[in-house]
Amino acid sequence: MPYSLDEGHSSESDILCRLDDIENPGGVVIPPSPLTPPGGLVIIRHGAMVRAFENRCPHFGVGLDAETGSLLFDWEAKHLKCRNHYARFAIDDGSCHSIDCDEAPLTPFPIRVERGAIFPA
Ligand code: FES
Repeated sequence: MPYSLDEGHSSESDILCRLDDIENPGGVVIPPSPLTPPGGLVIIRHGAMVRAFENRCPHFGVGLDAETGSLLFDWEAKHLKCRNHYARFAIDDGSCHSIDCDEAPLTPFPIRVERGAIFPA
C-alpha cells in the first residue's frame, strides 16, 4: 500500500522501514545509518507487536545476523537466535535465554509506528 505523509508529520527521510516490508511473524536487519546505532537495527514483527533492538549481540558485540542480512527465529519459543553462537533472546523484551550471552539482554531501540511506517521514537 502506498504511504504518504501529511504535512506536520515525520519526514519520509526519517523512516526506518515500512511495516509491510516485514513478514508477520518476521524480522529485518536495518543497516547502519544516521537514524540507527552504529551497528544498525533489527526490527521484529509478531502479530500486533513491533520491536527494535540494536543489531549487536551482547556476547561478542557482533551483528545478530553475522553479516548475512537475515535473522534466525524460533517462533514457538518467541526467540531471536544470534547467528554466531546461537544465543537466544526473547523477541518482546530482548532478555537473554542462553548461557552463551551471560544473560545480558539485547539493547532496545525506541520506535513508533505511524501510518504503516516505522520511525525512531
Ligand atoms: S556472538 Fe552472539 S552468541 Fe556469541
